[in-house]
Amino acid sequence: MDNNTVSELNSKFSETEPEKVLEYLSASFGDRIALSSSLSLEDQIITDMIVKINPKMRIFTLDTGRLFPETYNLIDRTNHKYGITIEIFFPNYVDVQEMVNTDGINLFYNSVEKRKKCCHIRKIEPLKRAFAGLDAWICGLRKEQSVTRRNMQMVEWDEENNLLKINPLIDWSEQRVWEYVKTRSVPYSKLHDSGFPSIGCQPCTRAVEPGEDIRAGRWWWELPAHKECGLHRISATDI
Ligand code: ADX
Ligand code: SF4
Repeated sequence: MDNNTVSELNSKFSETEPEKVLEYLSASFGDRIALSSSLSLEDQIITDMIVKINPKMRIFTLDTGRLFPETYNLIDRTNHKYGITIEIFFPNYVDVQEMVNTDGINLFYNSVEKRKKCCHIRKIEPLKRAFAGLDAWICGLRKEQSVTRRNMQMVEWDEENNLLKINPLIDWSEQRVWEYVKTRSVPYSKLHDSGFPSIGCQPCTRAVEPGEDIRAGRWWWELPAHKECGLHRISATDI
């Protein structure tokens, strides 16, 4: 895969509805593509679309062990509604044990370095295992979500993992997201109705005030430019 292929795909998909993009991806990649879902509104929309196109497409989630109870309930509700099984990947328990026994159970509040260590052990390492057998992964990123995402493209080459990465909702507005969720009765976390626009791990997510940035409640004690967990690359020009 080279940069030309990535730009060709971006041109091909510009002005294309996400359903059509997903149809094309499913036909091209078969079982070598999967959705990485955090059960966010965006991931739930993509799940709703995928189920209609190819209900056998893999959908996986990374259970860090520190998720909100609402997120666990949503996994269950989503599986029941769509008749699917979202695959769950856990962190390596020996690594988690060593980390919390050395650095403390809530190490993430102590420094950006410790926070990244926790994200690495609880998310990145399991993600690498989830990638086995894949040529491409689908994510729910949107440009509007953050300063770190405004230069992202629908199709990107994920250099670190040697995979194609596709963000079918990259240009969607928050309003369009909510319209889809409401009109199609897509299951979503009740936390979104209580001031949580972006939901990650429980100890690292808080509600935001009206008018605050949608990711202001994620790792709120850190500077905006630090607020990625390593799942998504930030280029030097993004911040
Ligand atoms: S994060 O990197 O800050 O945690 P965010 O919560 O905005 O990311 O989610 C962006 C996208 O990353 C999601 O749409 C999803 O594709 C992927 N993602 C984030 N967290 C998880 C998770 N726990 N399991 C699987 N995919 C995830
Ligand atoms: Fe750990 Fe917080 Fe990262 Fe979750 S978001 S893996 S609890 S540092």
